[in-house]
Amino acid sequence: MLKPNKLGNKNFLSSLDISTEELFHILELAKNFKNKVLNIEFKRKVLGLIFNKSSTRTRVSFQVAMSRLGGTTIDLNPETSQIGRGEPIKDTARVLSRYCDVIAIRTFNQTDLEEYSKWSAKPVINALTDLEHPCQVLADFLTIKEEFIDFKNVVLTFIGDGNNVANSLILCGALLGVEVRIACPKGYEPNSFVIKKALEIYEDKNLLKITNDPHNAVVGANVLYTDVWSSMGEEKFKENKDKDFNGFTIDKNLVNKANKDAIILHCLPAYRSKEITDEVIDSSKSRIFDQAENRMHAQQALLACLLS
Ligand code: CP
Ligand code: NVA
Repeated sequence: MLKPNKLGNKNFLSSLDISTEELFHILELAKNFKNKVLNIEFKRKVLGLIFNKSSTRTRVSFQVAMSRLGGTTIDLNPETSQIGRGEPIKDTARVLSRYCDVIAIRTFNQTDLEEYSKWSAKPVINALTDLEHPCQVLADFLTIKEEFIDFKNVVLTFIGDGNNVANSLILCGALLGVEVRIACPKGYEPNSFVIKKALEIYEDKNLLKITNDPHNAVVGANVLYTDVWSSMGEEKFKENKDKDFNGFTIDKNLVNKANKDAIILHCLPAYRSKEITDEVIDSSKSRIFDQAENRMHAQQALLACLLS
């Protein structure tokens, strides 16, 4: 029976924290958890959740994944804990790691997440920061693998803001050698450090393309992916961003320019009729709800590795 392997890094703060081999291992474990052929238990283990931003999928999929492993979850609401009062991260992290076995954190700055991991004796997981969303892309590549079996010749085109989700797609794409194209308006390109790191990993540097032309970017693509134009915390920029992203909607016209076998992904939550039309989300090409389900299987696999 497949067994979860301990990962080389204690934490999962970034897609860069795992190797290509470890990524394949997590995807394989996730597939086995999904097919119910694995029964691995971490009885009495406790996952702490700290969410400084809202969440439906990440919160619930972590809770269910942990319960499927026989463990429990504590949802630490910053409003009702001392986190919201501004207790220093180094104190919170040291205390929580005396109670919990692993901690998943959703926050704004990647440096705050790093501060938690510095002071926590237990593994820390990035449940989304402004810079990355590495748990999301584990589920995304699981969904892509289910569709295309392997990653050879897969072309993933992301149309939207080059922030957290796009950054993690780029890094994971580099680990897997998948062609990743990012189509975004000028000024919304992915993080330059992420691009630099990805180019260090890619054997074929031509597999990463950043463009401002969504129409060209979808030609030959097998996966079309989008995310909200205004992320959590950017509500005040919404009106301006809606204007800047005009022409970057995934609609039927754009889908028709992609490969015939193309599937549609969206991390959700969506602003229907902004970054993607109703028709496309609900079309037969959409794998968006399988992708959402896969958050749970991928995180169950990740937790099993981190707790091993
Ligand atoms: N995709 C995602 O992370 O969704 P939530 O914000 O609902 O967790
Ligand atoms: N980019 C989005 C992702 C939501 C899952 C955000 O940060 O709000």
